[in-house]
Amino acid sequence: MVDLQDYSSRGLALALSEAVGDGRLRKGDRLPPIRTVASDLQLSPTTVSAAWSMLARRGVIRTDGRRGTTVTALGAPGPTRYRRALRGRATFSLDVSTGVPDPQLLPLLDAALRAVPHSGSRGSYLDDPVLPQLREVLRGDWPYDAEQLTVTDGAMDALDLIVAVHLEPGDTVAVEHPCFPPMLDLLDAYGMRSFGLAMDAHGPTVESVRAAVRRRVTAIFLQPRAHNPTGVCLTAERAAAIAAALAGFDVLVVEDDSAGAIASAAPLSLGRWLPERVLHIRSFSKSHGPDLRLAAMSGPAARIDPISERRLLGQGWTSRLLQAVLVELLNDDAAVWQVDAARREYARRRSALVGGLAEAGVPVTGTDGLNIWLPVQDEAAALVHLAGRGIAAAAGSPFHVLADDHAHLRITTGLVRDGHERLVHDLVDAAGASAWAGPR
Ligand SMILES: Cc1ncc(COP(=O)(O)O)c(C=O)c1O
Repeated sequence: MVDLQDYSSRGLALALSEAVGDGRLRKGDRLPPIRTVASDLQLSPTTVSAAWSMLARRGVIRTDGRRGTTVTALGAPGPTRYRRALRGRATFSLDVSTGVPDPQLLPLLDAALRAVPHSGSRGSYLDDPVLPQLREVLRGDWPYDAEQLTVTDGAMDALDLIVAVHLEPGDTVAVEHPCFPPMLDLLDAYGMRSFGLAMDAHGPTVESVRAAVRRRVTAIFLQPRAHNPTGVCLTAERAAAIAAALAGFDVLVVEDDSAGAIASAAPLSLGRWLPERVLHIRSFSKSHGPDLRLAAMSGPAARIDPISERRLLGQGWTSRLLQAVLVELLNDDAAVWQVDAARREYARRRSALVGGLAEAGVPVTGTDGLNIWLPVQDEAAALVHLAGRGIAAAAGSPFHVLADDHAHLRITTGLVRDGHERLVHDLVDAAGASAWAGPR
């Protein structure tokens, strides 16, 4: 069936993915029972079972009761959940499926581009990878006193580097349930197992963090404010309680502050309590523009230095030209005003929808950011219902880490400039649409 060169579960998973990729195994093919594969390949059943779990998580195979294990699809790593969440959005008159910022609320770059100094150094391989002026301005409102600060090509780049440098394939890591799909795709691509943290209105529950520690997770990934998709912000009390639950355990804490300056809540980090364990990322994509591709990341030297070293084998550093543009934007009164105005406008758009939904008996949790997590009776029926009204929403299931009896859609309120009353009406109807009713 497969040529096995690496006799680990990962090696077997890889060999089987390759067999699917080159057509030796096709969609619908039944795989032999685990014990048969184990004895054929002289592996332990546990190794085969671990390989099967990895393949199932990547969507390559499916185990289905009496039908046994079958091949489901091509197993190339990639943003599969992310694509599923955004599927079929091209033909709608209102697209609230994307989670992206409103381009009209981003600061104009012209003045910053003109102000970037042209004289002096034109840049060298040997320069400091972080502009000292940027480091200084970031320190101004960084949520804790971090030992080191670096700059990456956006938050996803920082997350990718952290996983590649500090975690091992097969590690179990804790993520919030629900979770941003590209994060789950990233973990799958590296062969990690995800442990879901239950959330309430204050962030991940302390009980679920304790359960994650008992499962010996090597890292915990949190979104400290404006969580995507729910909009929940971690409260200071919950952050302190989570830090206490993690004290004494060797768990890396990764904080993804992807909303950055468009969040209404103040910056917050567990770094206040666990500075030697926290990597805190702030993205500038939502506040200053996705095409700047910039994020800042802080942490202890013991964690940041290996990442900087690894980067030297790739892009090396994040363009200092772009860093200089960001410095201008962070220091310029007009740009600061534009970002403040965007933050207020996102809050207005969000509360117009959340308020209307609450009045109509559809309460949503979360208070901040670009998205809401709309509870619906049936995901497919709600999507179809909205599609019938020309509205694209994101399916909730690609965000799932735990099995969840409650269906949701993610709605990007940040993109809804007007017509809130009408949209509330459509969302309320969609929330009540049931599987057999379809579009009304
Ligand atoms: C939770 C989360 N993390 C990371 C990102 C990506 O950020 P960046 O554009 O900085 O890579 C997003 C973008 O939507 C996000 O929602």
